[in-house]
Amino acid sequence: MRVLVTGAKGMLGSALLPSLLPEHQAVGVDLTDFDIGEGAAVQKAFLELRPDFVAHLAAYTDVDGSEANPQRAEAINAVGTWNVAGACADIGAAMLYVSTDYVFDGRQERAYREDDCPHPVSVYGRTKLRGEQHVQSLVARHFIVRTSWLYGPQGKNFVATILKLAREREELRVVSDQRGSPTYTRHLALKLAQLLWTEAYGIYHVTGTGECSWFEFAQAIVRSGGYERVRVAPIASHDSGRLATRPVNSVLENRRLLQINLGTLPHWTEGLAQYIEEGRRSGEFAILEPDHPEGSLKSEVTGL
Ligand SMILES: NC(=O)c1ccc[n+]([C@@H]2O[C@H](COP(=O)([O-])OP(=O)(O)OC[C@H]3O[C@@H](n4cnc5c(N)ncnc54)[C@H](OP(=O)(O)O)[C@@H]3O)[C@@H](O)[C@H]2O)c1
Repeated sequence: MRVLVTGAKGMLGSALLPSLLPEHQAVGVDLTDFDIGEGAAVQKAFLELRPDFVAHLAAYTDVDGSEANPQRAEAINAVGTWNVAGACADIGAAMLYVSTDYVFDGRQERAYREDDCPHPVSVYGRTKLRGEQHVQSLVARHFIVRTSWLYGPQGKNFVATILKLAREREELRVVSDQRGSPTYTRHLALKLAQLLWTEAYGIYHVTGTGECSWFEFAQAIVRSGGYERVRVAPIASHDSGRLATRPVNSVLENRRLLQINLGTLPHWTEGLAQYIEEGRRSGEFAILEPDHPEGSLKSEVTGL
């Protein structure tokens, strides 16, 4: 199958492309090729490339930036997805759209199921939800995959940030009243590649197994990186100084994956161990080499 991946140079895109090979003829495009906000450019590219399947990952993923610049979030996440979905419909391609836990408000006690009613509390969440709605209205053969708390190579992510700060600071203050499921991009990419074969279209929740708070996630990262001297202190969301409201409960039940016997992703702690090991080998993280052991700086960190 000819598969086109948008956002191919991003954190998830760079994990997805290799996982599609050699079974598929996979091509990646990114902002350097065309802007998904420009309908004519999207249409032209799709007519030339003629994919059978489009994995649409390109997005404006800056959650706080979306509050400050809602027009940009709308132009890329909602209008951009409208353009991609419309171009898929024109050439008869099936489509996978990667969406987010931030389409929910997080007030529910239990984990969110695929058929729970979305109610986003941020600009980013609202624009991603509009993207979902455009895909549903324009492309009959579609997958919508909601995932959460991504980390992996080639991306600005929470794990890399915590490891960097752990080298420089003696205390990190991290939000403890938001819970979710960290998801390793390589694990997610493999599942997306499997899902693509099934033709069991619809909405899926696909996240790492297990759940934690950002605070617990940071504690695990600091431990795995070997920074026992670094103290991780819990703080409340309202003390984090972030612009966007984030769901308190972001945990997604991966119900439909089990229903179609595709199995869930490994536990997030396994993903973390794998990512840190790979980073150590590739030199991406200078782990176990704290360069400011006596530093007295503090840092406040939240997730995505
Ligand atoms: N990261 C998470 O924790 C998370 C959680 C849930 C869902 N998701 C979703 O998962 C998908 C992949 O996320 P990610 O973390 O891999 O994102 P990412 O690293 O920010 O990658 C997004 C890619 O899209 C490109 N892009 C941005 N605007 C574009 C435009 N107007 N036209 C064409 N390309 C454009 C970016 O290029 P530039 O870098 O040049 O701007 C980047 O390469 C997104 O749809 C996101 O909403 C992410």
